[in-house]
Amino acid sequence: MIKEVIFENILTATANGIFTITINRPDKLNALNKRTIEEIGEAINVAVADSAVHGIIITGSGPKAFVAGADISEFSNYSVEEGQILSADGQRVFKSIELCPKPVIAAVNGFALGGGCELAMSCHLRVASDNAKFGQPEVKLGLIPGYAGTQRLVQLIGKSKAMELLMTADMISANEALQLGLVNYVTTAEQLITICEELLKKISLQSPKAITEIINCVDAYYTDGVDGFAFEVNAFGKCFGTNDFKEGVSAFLEKRKTNFVRS
Ligand code: COA
Repeated sequence: MIKEVIFENILTATANGIFTITINRPDKLNALNKRTIEEIGEAINVAVADSAVHGIIITGSGPKAFVAGADISEFSNYSVEEGQILSADGQRVFKSIELCPKPVIAAVNGFALGGGCELAMSCHLRVASDNAKFGQPEVKLGLIPGYAGTQRLVQLIGKSKAMELLMTADMISANEALQLGLVNYVTTAEQLITICEELLKKISLQSPKAITEIINCVDAYYTDGVDGFAFEVNAFGKCFGTNDFKEGVSAFLEKRKTNFVRS
């Protein structure tokens, strides 16, 4: 069954338990204005609330761009205060993607620049088509990344290469992004969504509650003031109180496939 929800700047569709968010401003290379970022946040909430959804794909409309950055024309006259609000609002939505209790994959189908690279980095996994290009070109505009690009790029590829990309504004190819560990897979444009669907299907066979705990524990590693090891002890213990644990262990002992129930 396919369910459609209408937004202004994004398209959403649910099929086979996968909720797809397509950023839909192809004439602006899917640049993220404020409305678009808000809609992405709202769409994530819709997907989380729908128990029929087991995973989320975020992609861009058209053959050329995933997202070519924040919408430059929208912030061209911003003040210091407006810049801070823009950054804080974007960071909040992107953090909600990173902490989404269901797996989120960026299907990077072209330019992923500035806020586009940051959006992809806030997802749990990234698959790129072979025409994709990644970069943080903000310094060309007298800016820096504002949607946590200075933080997540370091987390994903390490300080040396992150420093280089952030300071040179260089664009890198999908294969370079793969070598750096910025993306999980590179594929053809035709296969892009299929590969994402296969990954989500594989994850959907596992315990949904355990997947959520994985997301939270990995986030704890990067959260200031949180001891990730202690966080894991608590999360591990919580798993023993779930129906998923009972089902997983029973299925193993009974030598049958698991049948986890989503709630
Ligand atoms: N914000 C607003 N509009 C954007 C945009 C952005 N980040 N990126 C692209 N666009 C718009 C262009 O202004 C153009 O609109 P127009 O047809 O009304 O003039 C349209 O999208 C097509 O882009 P264009 O530049 O003509 O395509 P191109 O193939 O020649 O170049 C890029 C592609 C991605 C290299 C180029 O668009 C670019 O450098 N974009 C900005 C990237 C950036 O700095 N991102 C970080 C922003 S903080």
